[in-house]
Amino acid sequence: MERSVKILALAGSYRRHSFNQALVAAAREEAPSQVEFREFDLREVPFYDADLEETGLPPAVVRLKAAVHEADALLLVTPEYNSGIPAVLKNGIDWASRVYPEAPIGGKLVAIIGATPGRSGTEFAQQQLRTVVNRTGAVVISEPQLMVARAGDLIEGGRVRSEELRSSVRAVVEAMVAAVELCVDQGSLSAVM
Ligand code: FNR
Repeated sequence: MERSVKILALAGSYRRHSFNQALVAAAREEAPSQVEFREFDLREVPFYDADLEETGLPPAVVRLKAAVHEADALLLVTPEYNSGIPAVLKNGIDWASRVYPEAPIGGKLVAIIGATPGRSGTEFAQQQLRTVVNRTGAVVISEPQLMVARAGDLIEGGRVRSEELRSSVRAVVEAMVAAVELCVDQGSLSAVM
């Protein structure tokens, strides 16, 4: 029997018809049946504040940390803002990285994808995100990479119209499933590092 794999998607944009939310939707739709695909709305999460860790975590942070803890792998879907990652996504990662070394994000498998109407394909944001994720103790799955440039040609009305792009998204999700299975079989993250 196929093992179930829990994938949690965290995105850096929540606007209506967001190109990056369209990638999340495509990942959910293209995921193999063994995947339990979950999403978390990072807009609910307040800005990181160390005082809140002492006085009591806000309910949205508790929910986020639980969702990250329960996931086998995270799909981070990022736009590019001024050659970097959006604050809403960085904020979610910062909360999930607390408190080292018991942080829920530590040791998770992570895939990074992103879309922009521009030409960079979110290359700079993805580079930055990889640096951030590596610092948390999570492990980025390096292949396949998916940087979607000129997203307006492929995504319309919040939906990925291009079959080629849908199959690229599917390949990323399949790589996540394969990496999770390899880790479980070998009992170690080093299997995919
Ligand atoms: C942008 N955008 C952008 N695009 C890009 O390719 N490189 C960049 O550095 C930036 N910088 C940037 C800064 C800010 C503050 C905004 C609001 C936007 C454009 C961005 O890619 C575009 O708005 C996307 O549509 C955002 O992603 P969603 O909302 O479609 O998922």
